[in-house]
Amino acid sequence: MAILVTGGAGYIGSHTCIELLNSGYEIIVVDNFSNSKPEALKRVSELTKKSFKSYNVDLLDQVTLEKVFFENHIESVIHFAGLKAVGESVETPLRYYHNNITGTVVLCELMQKYNVKKLVFSSSATVYGTPKYVPITEDFSLQSINPYGRTKLMIEEILRDLHLSDDNWSIALLRYFNPIGAHESGRIGEDPNGIPNNLMPYITQVAIGKRENLNIFGKDYNTHDGTGVRDYVHVVDLAKGHLKALEKIINSTGIDAFNLGTGIGYSVLDVVKIYENVTSRKIPYNFTHRRSGDIDKCYADPTKANKELGWKASKNLEDMCRDSWRWQKNNPEGYNEEIKEKI
Ligand code: NAD
Ligand code: UD1
Repeated sequence: MAILVTGGAGYIGSHTCIELLNSGYEIIVVDNFSNSKPEALKRVSELTKKSFKSYNVDLLDQVTLEKVFFENHIESVIHFAGLKAVGESVETPLRYYHNNITGTVVLCELMQKYNVKKLVFSSSATVYGTPKYVPITEDFSLQSINPYGRTKLMIEEILRDLHLSDDNWSIALLRYFNPIGAHESGRIGEDPNGIPNNLMPYITQVAIGKRENLNIFGKDYNTHDGTGVRDYVHVVDLAKGHLKALEKIINSTGIDAFNLGTGIGYSVLDVVKIYENVTSRKIPYNFTHRRSGDIDKCYADPTKANKELGWKASKNLEDMCRDSWRWQKNNPEGYNEEIKEKI
């Protein structure tokens, strides 16, 4: 019996594959490598000293995806595959709706056909839109302000309808806050294409000299120092949350949402300061205008995940900064460098 991991070559997926393999699960990865490299999977295998099957398949390709279900004995699915850049989703909404929503529908149709009804889905704190206050609990009202966020919200609703239609389904909706950090080996990490949209990969590229300085988006937010406050969570803690969710869905039926965050909010300036302390690198910065769609504060109340999944983040912001830097320093070109060397 295996766990199918869609998007398993991506940032969160690759870290989760390591945790799954280290815990003795058999895994099968499906990824179209639209935002990742096969090298990440090689390194997962190298780090765990375990082999596993991986398929270069697009979720939209139902015929080929069906072969994966036909050839393997799949017990549950962890579904990471999706496009995730907010700005890009505003420019190309149809691509986002098609990839994320149709991809999920195709996957669920095959799951239903092959009687695989256990699913862990990558949702996001983005489904809370602009929260009325913080910390955010799972029962807050949901809204979204961009196509990416709407795909997450719509998929959550589709999965609720699916469960309503057949209560044999068991589904965990994991609402991630801000995953950062990297595997402590320094071999697996986040490898963004082009100019990073998110704070931590941008900071690490400034630290290594790829970018001159960090632009801090706004200094007049309603926060302790005027810069945006977020709940940064170590990607390895997040990966472990998937194993806890998996244990829950394997042993029960139902559908439920869980916040995966630390419950602590840090501002952009807090992150810069801690990053500088931990790495002894200087991060020059400028203040620029606010980024459209940004909110002042967003952090989780993670009590439900703690009580019902037995999950709690264990790594702090120092660990996250240290591990992000180790990954960046050891892999200045991300996964590309090793490929070049091998050619
Ligand atoms: P990622 O881009 O690194 O990983 C996603 C993977 O899915 C990639 O390997 C990509 O090639 C693959 N993929 C995309 N579309 C596919 C398709 N149609 N068929 C097959 N493979 C496909 O992203 P990530 O940061 O690892 O995020 C994983 C999931 O978590 C995504 O659904 C994302 O929306 C969600 N999420 C991420 C964050 C974050 O900050 N990283 C926050 C909240 C939610
Ligand atoms: C982004 C996404 C959100 C997603 C979340 C987690 C956008 C608009 N939102 O949100 O949908 O759920 O990531 O993946 O992309 N910052 C800077 N300079 C930078 C980059 C960021 O000052 O170069 C600031 C931001 O204004 C924010 C904080 O750093 O206050 C964190 O930004 P980011 O890492 O992009 O995460 P989110 O804004 O939470």
